[in-house]
Amino acid sequence: MARKKSEHKKIKGLKTRFRASPKKRLGRLPKLKKASGHIGKSIRVQKNRQKDVILVLDFGSQYTQLIARRIRECKVYSKIVPYNISLAEIEEIKPKGLVLSGGPMSVYDKGSPYPHKDIFKSGLPVLGVCYGMQVICEIFGGKVEASKTREFGRSELFIDSNKDLFINLPTNLTCWMSHSDQIKKLPQGFVSLAHTLTAPCAAFANRAKKIYAVQFHPEVVHTQRGNEVISNFLFQICNCLPRWTVDKFIHQQLKIVKERVADKKVILGLSGGVDSSVTAVLLNRAIGKRLHCIFVDNGLLRKNEVSRVEKMFKENFQLNLVVIDAEKAFLSRLKGITDPEQKRKIIGEEFVKVFTNKAKKISNVQFLAQGTLYPDVIESISPLGGPSATIKTHHNVGGLPKNMKLELIEPFRELFKDEVRAIGKKLEVPDSILKRQPFPGPGLAVRIAGEVTKERLEILREADERVVDEIKKAGLYHDIWQAFAVLLPIKTVGVMGDQRTYENVIAIRCVSSTDGMTADWVQLPYEILARMSNRIINEVAGVNRVVYDISSKPPATIEWE
Ligand code: XMP
Repeated sequence: MARKKSEHKKIKGLKTRFRASPKKRLGRLPKLKKASGHIGKSIRVQKNRQKDVILVLDFGSQYTQLIARRIRECKVYSKIVPYNISLAEIEEIKPKGLVLSGGPMSVYDKGSPYPHKDIFKSGLPVLGVCYGMQVICEIFGGKVEASKTREFGRSELFIDSNKDLFINLPTNLTCWMSHSDQIKKLPQGFVSLAHTLTAPCAAFANRAKKIYAVQFHPEVVHTQRGNEVISNFLFQICNCLPRWTVDKFIHQQLKIVKERVADKKVILGLSGGVDSSVTAVLLNRAIGKRLHCIFVDNGLLRKNEVSRVEKMFKENFQLNLVVIDAEKAFLSRLKGITDPEQKRKIIGEEFVKVFTNKAKKISNVQFLAQGTLYPDVIESISPLGGPSATIKTHHNVGGLPKNMKLELIEPFRELFKDEVRAIGKKLEVPDSILKRQPFPGPGLAVRIAGEVTKERLEILREADERVVDEIKKAGLYHDIWQAFAVLLPIKTVGVMGDQRTYENVIAIRCVSSTDGMTADWVQLPYEILARMSNRIINEVAGVNRVVYDISSKPPATIEWE
């Protein structure tokens, strides 16, 4: 995306605002080309069995995942692949089109990433975005230059050719730009499709070769009708059909899991969070009692959490679930530990120990199921880091030992969180799970400043329950990213009745966020704060003072430790 460091910061700040509701972003889908309705029945059946795939070649842009996501919102499956994927690899996947993402470098920078030139021989439609456009220009003999006027942020786009890529769009649109290089000379055979006040060519095409490119970012919500530019590429140019649906996905995964697992067993670490819960319900539907879910009660969970999760899964889904009471083991290892990082490390290690010990006792286990999501798996490649993609495999259960020799089942490793929520909804996972606020893996341990003790945990559990209860009563639970209590182990003087008290402080933390990366404290109405404070001080023994945390992230973090 050819931007300098100073601008990088500005753009990053906007990241949190990109997550508008998919419905709002998607707008209407384009009408299918009439031809599809005239295809003979036998051909149509055959076509429908195939899944249309669009490959997004990642040149390192922070928006690469957003492109993949927008494509899926158009009900077309998309997959992110390294920028240097070979033609043979592409041919194996048989995609319907390629998108070349943006990237942080200039095409003239030393070591800037270039795709294999022969991918253009595949005859597949190509859409270049920002850096992707510039690299196409270079490869086909055009000229890219640092422009006198760099364009960052909103810009007015004037469309000069309202065909294919820009069909059904007005002649000018507000779009989101993020570049300092621009097209100076078009390659032979290419025509300009749009311009801005400072960029004479802001989109181009070689229609004969089905190569298209845009300087702006159609994937970000700031680009007006950007989703229609993407859907035009998919449906007008690549001839995709919108058939990537939740139902089909579930059906397909049930089949895959059944065939793969056969008569073997699968274990799964259930946390009660969205990802592991939906994974458990899906697998339960596929293989029933051959799925063994393990819920580790580490003593660091919220009030009634264990019984709530157990009851919900056993009653609604007849899930094969064991709860392991490991409170003693966790608390004894945490005794005397005050350093936040050390607490986290101990909790991680202990979890793995308890989980593996239990897993070893179940016979014929060959698989470990995890609710790993797409963003956990795909990490944007570093074009500077050499030709191979750096793909991170994230182990949700905290790096299980290699000698477990279990094969992984990760049905959602290609999905985003909201897609998993949609699947959960179809599988009738209740909203109390699907719409839960996030809860950290190390649990209440990172919400007690200093040493974690059973007594402190009890106090915190009671205070936390009242915070959440008041938020729910105020109808704010789903509007807030997280609302919880933190125990500060400093004692302050108070007076209750005629008695002097000397007790703990509870801090209330209530933040809004879209992805947890940045957050702001919520300006809760005073009445709600007053009710929380009254209830905590009056009803929770061991607390005589309540404060409200008014720090944003950054510079603070959401959790206190
Ligand atoms: P921070 O405190 O880093 O938290 O601002 C950002 C988001 O991540 C959650 N969080 C965790 N989630 N394991 C998790 O699964 C963890 O160790 C962990 N630490 C923080 C936190 O609740 C917030 O939503």
